Amino acid sequence: METKELLQFTYDHLQRAQDLETKKDYTSSAAEYLEASKFLFEAASKSTGEIKKIRVEQAEKLLKKYREIKELKNSEKDGKIKTSENPGKNQEASTFEDLGININNVPEITFEDVAGLDEVKAQITTKVIYPSKQPETAKKFGVSSGGGILLYGPPGTGKTHIARAIAHEAKATFISINPSTLLSKWFGEFEKNIALLFSLAREHSPSLIFFDEIDSLFPKRSKNNSSVMARAVPQMLSEMDGYFKDISKPVLVIGATNNPWDMDEAVLRSGRFDEKVYIGPPSLEARKRIFEINSASRPVEDNVDLDYLSKITEGYSGADISYICRKAAETVFREVVESGKERKISQSDFVTVIHNTGPSITSEMISKYRKFEDFLKEAK
Ligand SMILES: Nc1ncnc2c1ncn2[C@@H]1O[C@H](COP(=O)(O)OP(=O)(O)OP(=O)(O)O)[C@@H](O)[C@H]1O
Ligand SMILES: [Mg+2]
Repeated sequence: METKELLQFTYDHLQRAQDLETKKDYTSSAAEYLEASKFLFEAASKSTGEIKKIRVEQAEKLLKKYREIKELKNSEKDGKIKTSENPGKNQEASTFEDLGININNVPEITFEDVAGLDEVKAQITTKVIYPSKQPETAKKFGVSSGGGILLYGPPGTGKTHIARAIAHEAKATFISINPSTLLSKWFGEFEKNIALLFSLAREHSPSLIFFDEIDSLFPKRSKNNSSVMARAVPQMLSEMDGYFKDISKPVLVIGATNNPWDMDEAVLRSGRFDEKVYIGPPSLEARKRIFEINSASRPVEDNVDLDYLSKITEGYSGADISYICRKAAETVFREVVESGKERKISQSDFVTVIHNTGPSITSEMISKYRKFEDFLKEAK
């Protein structure tokens, strides 16, 4: 659709929204405001520079109006009016809901709950946590608090886990997005919704947008012929640029993938994901810590040797170890219930499950990631 048409639609919907508002038909009016804002966001996504900025601002205003009117409708039902100075709690969530996106407040998981990955934590602390704690100092040193981080590595190594912990440490709203559901839900409205998503993230700033399986969002161009993606990718990138620049409202984007080699090389090189961090299998020490974390709240015999258990679990991912602890606990639980005899989880309960499961990370997988690391170094 041409920008001219988009603006015409915006105007038409706005007219209707205002008419309906005067007639106190708030339900229909809210819907018209939302439509108007969507068209304007789409128009904004097709423009550049100052005009783009103005259109985004106007569209954000329409979105705000939509929420106010929507609340008004709900409030009348409740019998109490909520003003925009005193916003209702459900107000924001409803718009994320419209986009089919989960939004959590700041997650509970901390860096303490993430075993190992010390270098990653240090990197993220400098890049994200310190700037959020001391924005003035960050400004002085020209360190920006927003930006993109790509986490890649084998399954179950704690990518999603650490993303949540980062949000906690940065006191950021966690906006979690799964591209495969997104692509189907946003069918035909991808560009509009991306603009909407980033603007909502900014409203909730500091916030963290977490794209799981990000390789499906930025696939190699040769692999993907979808015209939606062809248009969406450059737009995503320009949105990211725009939002990173505004240091007063940091939006952090974290992407996670098991298959970084499937991603568009231009995206990897572009500097939008300026930190690319390998999340590998847990070290000996980290495995011990994961055993500790997962057995702390369970009845475990005192003589269980966690050093030994971590030694025999080379190649097991964090997810594997968490499964082992759960499975061992379930087995004993079942036995206790069926026999009526109390007992704790023993060393051999753990060992049995370890032998029955086997490691999920192979050396072939690791060497594939090593090769990719080399590729990144060469690309620099
Ligand atoms: N380093 C770690 N420290 C503590 N727990 C961990 C760690 N790594 C994995 N786990 C445990 O394994 C579970 C699964 O990890 P997570 O979902 O974060 O893996 P992932 O890397 O995102 O995997 P995938 O690539 O399959 O999405 C976590 O919920 C956590 O219980
Ligand atoms: Mg994950």
